[in-house]
Amino acid sequence: MNPPILREVAELRAVVAGWRASGACVGVVPTMGALHEGHLGLVRAAKARADRVIVTIFVNPRQFDNPDDLAKYPRSEVRDAQTLAPLAVDAIYAPDTAQMYPEGFATTISVSGIGEGLCGAHRPGHFDGVATVVAKLLLQTGADMAFFGEKDFQQLMLVRRLVRDLDIPAEIVGCPIARAEDGLALSSRNARLSRAGRATAPALYRALSKAVAALCAGAPVAGTLEIARAEVLSAGFSAVEYLELRSAQTLAPLDRADRPARVLAAAHLDGVRLIDNAPVPV
Ligand code: PAF
Repeated sequence: MNPPILREVAELRAVVAGWRASGACVGVVPTMGALHEGHLGLVRAAKARADRVIVTIFVNPRQFDNPDDLAKYPRSEVRDAQTLAPLAVDAIYAPDTAQMYPEGFATTISVSGIGEGLCGAHRPGHFDGVATVVAKLLLQTGADMAFFGEKDFQQLMLVRRLVRDLDIPAEIVGCPIARAEDGLALSSRNARLSRAGRATAPALYRALSKAVAALCAGAPVAGTLEIARAEVLSAGFSAVEYLELRSAQTLAPLDRADRPARVLAAAHLDGVRLIDNAPVPV
């Protein structure tokens, strides 16, 4: 059976209050829909930890810096509900934009530092939009735990900072990146790649993996990253927005791989912006 779809905050709160009255702990998986196996991994992680699980589906206009990107973002609510049915999700929360940002809405949450480099530098306002909507979703659902994928590693770190700073009583659980057999990180955006683009796309993860191996073997950081950028471009990507080594704890840029780190990248292929990252063990 498809999970019930809740559209209004009041309805959501009443349902959650009923669960809480029977002592249930609540997990939430925030999504923008167009669900794929990566999202389902988050749902399974939530089901393993929480008594009741809500999946939110809201394509958040405030986190799109480009109207064309927002317009092209895939929307498939009916299929998403069917996809969630076998996982026994307890509810889908799918508010519309007027419910989330009613007339007169005037608050923006901005997380400085972590939200500023990498995707933040290339997508002005993106992380303010993410921080604002995630804070709202956590407060609206009142969830005890929220599950986020490590593919959006900067987003995960930003959300951890947000809940600490605003004393939002939710545990933020990071889940490993789900990949296709050829290594491509699963993303709703992959659906927009042409057949040729889909064949080229795994080159991003191949380049990251080679860079990680080189760094672990002691290769210098700057040269290694330069080689990885060149590999991505020569595979057929039209641009590399960034491909950098950052601290896995603070996201500060690193010029030596001497602590837990992450190589993170964003690159364009077929007019689609893809992101990925890989851990660099010490
Ligand atoms: O990662 C996403 O899908 C979105 O950024 C999120 C966390 C659902 C907020 O809109």
